[in-house]
Amino acid sequence: MKIGIDKLGFYAPHLYVDMNDLAEARGIDPGKFTIGLGQDEMAVPPITQDPVSLAANAAEQILDREDKDAIDLVIFGTESGVDHSKSAAVYVHQLLGLNPKARSVEMKQACYGATAGIQMAKGHIALHPDKKVLILASDIARYGLNTPGESTQGAGAVAILVSAEPRLLELESESTYYTEDIMDFWRPVYSSTAFVDGKYSNEQYIAFFQKVWKDYQEQTGRSLEDFAAIAFHLPYTKMGWKALRTVIEDAPEAVQERLKNNYQISTKYNRNVGNIYTGSLYLSLISLLENQDDLKEGDTIGLYSYGSGAVGEFLSGKLQNGFKKHLQTASHQAMFDNRECISVAAYEKVFEEALPTDGSEKQLNVDEDPAKICLAGVKDHIRSYAVK
Ligand code: CAA
Repeated sequence: MKIGIDKLGFYAPHLYVDMNDLAEARGIDPGKFTIGLGQDEMAVPPITQDPVSLAANAAEQILDREDKDAIDLVIFGTESGVDHSKSAAVYVHQLLGLNPKARSVEMKQACYGATAGIQMAKGHIALHPDKKVLILASDIARYGLNTPGESTQGAGAVAILVSAEPRLLELESESTYYTEDIMDFWRPVYSSTAFVDGKYSNEQYIAFFQKVWKDYQEQTGRSLEDFAAIAFHLPYTKMGWKALRTVIEDAPEAVQERLKNNYQISTKYNRNVGNIYTGSLYLSLISLLENQDDLKEGDTIGLYSYGSGAVGEFLSGKLQNGFKKHLQTASHQAMFDNRECISVAAYEKVFEEALPTDGSEKQLNVDEDPAKICLAGVKDHIRSYAVK
């Protein structure tokens, strides 16, 4: 039986800041952001978008009635959840009008959550091939104004539909994974921004990649030649290349060129969105599939997932016959085209807006947000959402 990704949706908030403007405002050479980190634009979530609404907007564009009835498991991967108790999956389940006979849970291990969700989904579909699983990978990356991590913020969500009739990517059973307790990046429950040991996090991302890639080669007998492309978790778009370049010289020249070229294509969307934590790897996969015409049915795509703290995994999939027909390229392009560039001063104002935490009421103006699904306000500690 085949199990894999049937549909992929993506949503980013309608506001962004240009990294050249941010660099100028911070007194930094813009080349550090655009070349050193590989980031051109950074998505800025207005107060009317939280991880729940971002995920609902990403899923809403890909699901039809048949999918909604067949989904009996909703897994919400996030590290910026809105409640320590109730899962964000339950909110999205209601907003999308999914079949009530479903399980809905939240999954957390930093940027690895969605990958854990995909692996759980595979097991579920193996037992229930007539069902579908909806995985939501949604986050708002916040380090704080004027911090070293500020240039690697972002916001957005990817929705992944897993089924036994995957039209995009069949997920292969081989995968290798590794866990080690390290403090490279974390966010204690009392903090709205992340703590990070930047250099150490870069080193560990690469070290985990090397471990799982070596293990994968030993377990499968495969080499870089077997891959049309490898997509990476991208906290910023230079990061995956820093890992890939440590192993690429093992491959023949033509393979190196192919992987390098496809790596660049896989970073296109991420360059203009920033880090969306657990959705970043899957945004990179979407970027690759929607922007590289040379990919063919049967091609093998590698995926490197990394969640600080830390868990790493290397997994892979095979492109399916006719996959190009099932991509959302035009609607994603329209979403990018319709975004609004805001000044650094406006971004700072948006960044500092917050919901009340004392139970008082706040109604938000959802008319200023073009998204179909918005956070509409909070009252008695309960969030409400608007579906336009
Ligand atoms: N022109 C071109 N390049 C320039 C430049 C210029 N004018 N000025 C600097 N650069 C280059 C530097 O040489 C450097 O390149 P290399 O890394 O290839 O040497 C690059 O720009 C970045 O410069 P610094 O290392 O000096 O940057 P920094 O120390 O200020 O911060 C950072 C970089 C550590 C990534 C920081 O943004 C950060 O802490 N980000 C959050 C943590 C993170 O994203 N970690 C990634 C791995 S962990 C993970 O993946 C999980 C996750 O999602 C968080």
